[in-house]
Amino acid sequence: MRTQLSFAPLAGIETELLAVVAVDTQTAKGPDAKPAPALLTADEAVQAAAAAVLSNGEYKAGANEPLLLHAPSGLAAKRLLIVGLGKQAKATVNSVRNAAGTAVRFTKPRGIRELVFALPQSDLLAAAHSARAAIEGAFVGDFDPDTYRSDRKDLSVQSFTLAASADADKATLETAFAEGVIVGESQNFTRSLVNEPGNKLTPTILGQRAALMAAEVGLGWEVHSTEKLHELKMGAFWSVSQGSEEPPALIVLRYEPEGVARHLDGPVLGLVGKGITFDTGGISIKPSDNMEKMKYDMAGGAAMIGAMRAIALLKPRVRVIGIVCAAENMPDGKAQKPGDVQTAMSGKTIEIINTDAEGRLVLADGLTYARQLGATHLIDAATLTGACAVALGHVNAGAFSNDDEAWGKFDAALTISGEKFWRLPLGEEYAEMIKSEIGDIKNTGGRYGGAITAAEFLKVFVEETPWIHLDIAGLAWVEDSKPYIAKGPSGVAVRSILEWVRSYQLLATSF
Ligand code: BES
Ligand code: MN
Ligand code: ZN
Repeated sequence: MRTQLSFAPLAGIETELLAVVAVDTQTAKGPDAKPAPALLTADEAVQAAAAAVLSNGEYKAGANEPLLLHAPSGLAAKRLLIVGLGKQAKATVNSVRNAAGTAVRFTKPRGIRELVFALPQSDLLAAAHSARAAIEGAFVGDFDPDTYRSDRKDLSVQSFTLAASADADKATLETAFAEGVIVGESQNFTRSLVNEPGNKLTPTILGQRAALMAAEVGLGWEVHSTEKLHELKMGAFWSVSQGSEEPPALIVLRYEPEGVARHLDGPVLGLVGKGITFDTGGISIKPSDNMEKMKYDMAGGAAMIGAMRAIALLKPRVRVIGIVCAAENMPDGKAQKPGDVQTAMSGKTIEIINTDAEGRLVLADGLTYARQLGATHLIDAATLTGACAVALGHVNAGAFSNDDEAWGKFDAALTISGEKFWRLPLGEEYAEMIKSEIGDIKNTGGRYGGAITAAEFLKVFVEETPWIHLDIAGLAWVEDSKPYIAKGPSGVAVRSILEWVRSYQLLATSF
């Protein structure tokens, strides 16, 4: 998708489709409180073209509600699309993100290949934030997961123009626009990885895809396999891969900002992702219903790879190491068994109760390795537990932290990313639930509090390092398509991780 920024008056723009957003300005409640839709544009010609339909009561400007007008009078555009943001008081930058996605997804099936999206003009929505969000939303909307369909029509929008008013702060908008392109493309890169089936994306291939991306954007990279796992004594990670014909991949991506000397005491952020390219459950095999979904069990790792791409292109002044622990969890004569005891890289011993609790095993060694490589702050992302999806549904992803400062930064990042994470508790009583009789800890703590005991397991390996754990099991796959996003891989967490990383930027004076 080509994207461009325009400052031309809307009325004169010749295009197949001009999209503008509207809010419902009605504040009264009750049966007589009729919706009062209003366009968020000062352009008088657009206002005039939409006046009749906005006043006749059939359009309510509900969130992502579309209304199409053909041959709008007084406009050079062939079509005028109005997209609702919902109630004015509740409209946020994220509503703009979704509206842009809705406009793109409205356009695609109609075979229209280009559109112009008018940046909303409103005192309540900062123009730069809206601009970035609109571009991100456009990329998110443009993605469809039908890669392997022979009748794939590839209806991708070829050209998306963001139209801002001529009196806008051009330099600020240009920066925001450029950021939006990088973030939107990176999120879609993650989604394209998550979408791949297990036979097309093995740990080795995931490593190749990450390496190719790293070389393209100028990240340092290494992809290791079995030998290195043995050398590093990654007994927990290795135990998951031992039942598969496919060798594991330990993917390391490094971002070293220019001008930030290595000896400086600044933070080093460690991004660790679960990269199970297929999770059968292993010997504790999963039921066959829905097992095909387990191709997306590498979504946390893919989120880290996408975030590293965005980091490399946006160049924040902070060092970042990305680690993805990729393996296939299979049952086999060589597979690990319930009751086995594994020694993790840290030296801690783990009693395997359930071979399907494999994500925490690969992450245990990934987190230890990140610390060994110098990470001072950690964040991990994983499709870790069904229990997290049971607790929070497909609405919020789960988040955990042992450090209120790190969490505060992540919470602030959420207002920029527009993603929904809900912090869940940790605590000694939960840690008790994973104590083992034969070893230090066991890899499951039972059904109750399953998302939390999984987080407690990881906490054993991060020790005192400030850390955030993201359990994205319920959100990594969009189960029902929405007006602004297709059913399929969501790319959740890429944007939030990126903003969290940026919040650690060193001040210009420190180098
Ligand atoms: N990959 C799954 C978790 C999952 C479930 C992700 C549904 C996405 C959707 C994970 O490896 C797993 O199997 N977890 C077990 C843990 C249990 C054995 C303690 C689970 O959630 O049942
Ligand atoms: Mn599993
Ligand atoms: Zn899994």
